[in-house]
Amino acid sequence: MTQLPPTCRAIHLVERPVGEPRRADFRTVETALPEPGPGEILVRNTWMSIDPSTRIRMDEVGSGYMPSFEIDRPIEGWAVGEVVRSHDPALPVGGHVLHPFGWREFSVMAAEAPGRMGAVPIEVRDDAPAHLYLGALGWVGLTAYVGLFDVAELRDGDVVFVSGGAGAVGGLAIQIAKLRGHYVVGSAGSAAKVAYIRDELGADAAFCYQDGDLPAQLRDAAPDGIDVYFDNVAGDHLEAALDALRPRGRVALCGAISAYNEVEAPPGPRNLFEAVAKGLTLRGFLARMYPERLDEFRREMRGWLAAGEVVYPETVFEGLEQAPAALTAMMRGENVGKTLVKLD
Ligand SMILES: NC(=O)c1ccc[n+]([C@@H]2O[C@H](COP(=O)([O-])OP(=O)(O)OC[C@H]3O[C@@H](n4cnc5c(N)ncnc54)[C@H](OP(=O)(O)O)[C@@H]3O)[C@@H](O)[C@H]2O)c1
Repeated sequence: MTQLPPTCRAIHLVERPVGEPRRADFRTVETALPEPGPGEILVRNTWMSIDPSTRIRMDEVGSGYMPSFEIDRPIEGWAVGEVVRSHDPALPVGGHVLHPFGWREFSVMAAEAPGRMGAVPIEVRDDAPAHLYLGALGWVGLTAYVGLFDVAELRDGDVVFVSGGAGAVGGLAIQIAKLRGHYVVGSAGSAAKVAYIRDELGADAAFCYQDGDLPAQLRDAAPDGIDVYFDNVAGDHLEAALDALRPRGRVALCGAISAYNEVEAPPGPRNLFEAVAKGLTLRGFLARMYPERLDEFRREMRGWLAAGEVVYPETVFEGLEQAPAALTAMMRGENVGKTLVKLD
């Protein structure tokens, strides 16, 4: 048996943040290494995903979303790791798994089953390292894929607008829409990101929402209007998109990152009547509502990655203790592409 340390660490939530999380809202807790019970495995986590959903779950979540984190308990989040103890023959020692119990060095869990979140084996190869399953080959990639094809029902010739265009989901959505031959507009929060969206991701136009007058910038980027809005931001971006959408346009409501750190819930778009007037469809979704699309999506994404048709930058923080800082940095827009924490 592999020699394992007697103790391990996890990041707990000790206070629900008001606004942007502070370091004091988190505590690093060391405990004895957990023992897997019957049917369970022990996983040594190697990479953790830093996701906006973590910030949502730090609040009291009053909707049908994933449950709020408990105070004085480990935070949860997607992670990949190696099975180091196993009481499940289907998940042997040495295998790699993707699971939702990150923000800790070691995690105990059973295999995923209907109605139960758990470990899913992943095929780690030279061209598909484990951490890719936290991004381009994982839920992030699936979000971009189903958001465009299943939720927004992308059609030939659609003009597509993607907000959060330099981030993990948005960057993939822009590239996938470009691969299908669409005219694509991206937005982001800095001039450097705008250049990246145009030059590296291949968007036809891009603008920086920090420069102000979002509706005018969107009009300049897509003078004849848009057919699809992939919404990562909500708020003022959604409002500008509702004005720019052409009749029968469609919105994939993917996220609302402009609201997650707000203390007061921001007002909804003031021009929702545009949806009535133009017969628009606004459809929210979570990628995990489309598990049946995972295989086809991975097949296509593997092909794009192998052909170098999709670029996939990562912003990497080192060590468990950096997870809270990584979350703050990502929420502030200090990332490009997927934000990850690499564990020692
Ligand atoms: N529906 C689903 O299943 C699903 C799954 C995954 C993620 N999501 C959602 O998708 C969105 C993107 O997630 P991600 O993981 O790809 O994160 P990300 O885009 O890699 O990182 C978050 C980005 O949000 C931007 N941002 C922060 N505050 C903003 C504001 N007030 N206005 C505009 N932009 C702001 C920042 O970029 P700038 O520098 O450009 O401001 C930051 O880089 C989030 O809304 C998330 O909740 C949904």
